[in-house]
Amino acid sequence: MRKYLFFGLMMLVSSIQAQKFEDLAKTPPMGWNSWNKFACDINEKTIRETADAIVSSGMRDAGYMYLVIDDCWQVKRDSNGTIIADPERFPSGMKNLGDYIHSKGLKFGIYSDAGTATCQGRPGSRGYEFQDARTYASWGVDYLKYDWCNHGKQNSEAAYSTMRDALYKAGRPVVLSICEWGTTKPWEWAKNVGHLWRSTEDIINCFDCKNYWGGLGVVQIIDLFTEIGTYTGPGHWNDADMLEVGNGVLTPDEERLHVSMWAMFSSPLMAGNDLRTMSKETVSILTNKEVLAIDQDKLGISAIRWMQFGDYEIWFKPLEDNAFAFCFINRGNQPVTVDQDLKTSIKKYVIDGSYGIRDLWKHEDIGNTKDNVRAVLGSHAVLMVKLIKK
Ligand code: GAL
Repeated sequence: MRKYLFFGLMMLVSSIQAQKFEDLAKTPPMGWNSWNKFACDINEKTIRETADAIVSSGMRDAGYMYLVIDDCWQVKRDSNGTIIADPERFPSGMKNLGDYIHSKGLKFGIYSDAGTATCQGRPGSRGYEFQDARTYASWGVDYLKYDWCNHGKQNSEAAYSTMRDALYKAGRPVVLSICEWGTTKPWEWAKNVGHLWRSTEDIINCFDCKNYWGGLGVVQIIDLFTEIGTYTGPGHWNDADMLEVGNGVLTPDEERLHVSMWAMFSSPLMAGNDLRTMSKETVSILTNKEVLAIDQDKLGISAIRWMQFGDYEIWFKPLEDNAFAFCFINRGNQPVTVDQDLKTSIKKYVIDGSYGIRDLWKHEDIGNTKDNVRAVLGSHAVLMVKLIKK
């Protein structure tokens, strides 16, 4: 009898712990991650200055809340197995840095790996999951990106569930960002394990390219999202990877298309540029509230590719309040003429002539669905509109 009581009590404790985690990512998490711009060249000065810049640029107020330190902050374990941050690059320690991040009204994210070593050869969490989760809780960590290098023969669902359980046990609510690059189809198993899962190989800084180790440009990632949209939703998101906006390669048109499509997919939005030195144009692309609202729409439905005419595509996303978003994108090098009647039924949704049409990049009302939408799209440009019931 006592055994059953004990077991019942443990189940209750674990379900109360789980509840604390469930509501953490009702909409796709937004923030900044150090990897795309800085890779291993990170230190506490850069992170503090980034925290300052995310506030002064208006990004925090636009929704970018998580400041995530990616690979290379960790150097070894001490004799008790506790993970040690690089004392030269982070001399004030992680608790101190976390306190600074929190003092700015932001949330603190960190990175580890389910294998024995991270992708850059730093200590991984395998065999230390519960100890690391306690350490992160003592530092005030709110978000863990958990990678998949050097994972050995582990089963991905089991490995990520172990870290989830460790975070539950440590008791501090932490967003768990699964990063196994889509290799074991996390959309099929990760809904109750993590809040988001990387769905593809790493983004690289280009519009249309692939590299030798599998890195993908913006349009290559877009194509992979045609298959997995139905798996995403409030609390569990397909993650299209961190943004390359402001990193000096994509043109402003390409950057707008990149952000628009990530918003259409309800992807987490993690800026990946140097926030301290970014241009006004970069800030305006990253903080376009009308576009961010499409990403953060409460229904959390991922867009479908509605029409495709060579390099010209039309994507469609249902929104709350019976509204819809459409993206017209030109992936090619020649201009494309848009002349599209939007009165239609797509899946179970019926669109008639009673919608106003708003251009979300120009911040202008451009007519209604009685008439066709008309525009000319330059190379790699996007027209993103919202249909609002009148
Ligand atoms: C990769 C991951 C990247 C970055 C990198 C760090 O596996 O996909 O986003 O975290 O490791 O080494």
